Amino acid sequence: MTMAPIAVEDLEILLPEKDIQAEVKALAGRVASAYEGRPLLLVGVLKGAWVFLADLVRHIPFNVDVDFIKVSSYGNATDSSGEVKFEMDFSHSIQGKDVLIVEDIVDSGLTLKYLKKNLLTRKPASVRVCALLDKPERHQTDVEIDYRGFEIPDRFVVGYGLDCAGFFRNLPSVAALTPEQSSALVQARR
Ligand code: PRP
Repeated sequence: MTMAPIAVEDLEILLPEKDIQAEVKALAGRVASAYEGRPLLLVGVLKGAWVFLADLVRHIPFNVDVDFIKVSSYGNATDSSGEVKFEMDFSHSIQGKDVLIVEDIVDSGLTLKYLKKNLLTRKPASVRVCALLDKPERHQTDVEIDYRGFEIPDRFVVGYGLDCAGFFRNLPSVAALTPEQSSALVQARR
């Protein structure tokens, strides 16, 4: 087991677990009302979105399909490189399907922009976006989020699927790191 060099007690909790759970339930309600009766494909963007998607899907009271894709824009650094790479593709065609992209966080918006453009070339019936966290101050492009959870400040955050150098994905809350804390985590991974 790799221990994080920072104790959970030393993290600044931005969003407690109960607030996240309430928001996820509310988002699922909005998604369920919008798509009720229509087949829906939820697409989790790995790795970060898996925790959010797992909770979201359990609040949707009808059958949905789930798939995962993986794109990367960051290494261990805290800033987007601006480059997005498709690392794992859909397991089935999305042609003719109502697709809901499920993201843990929108930062620069570059990942989402790339994804929507890419997915639309595959002729789905529709593509919408559900993102738990959004950092509007960081947007570098127009971003349309159909179902948005929390607007958060321009802080580096971990937890609920989000990591820093692989640490804290399993934290049930969302915490903000200081620059010193994120540097310590990156160093510990080396
Ligand atoms: C995060 C997040 C989004 C992307 C958002 O993923 O899950 O996919 O960054 O950033 P952007 O709006 O600046 O493009 P990340 O690349 O950190 O990978 P991970 O989910 O595997 O940790």
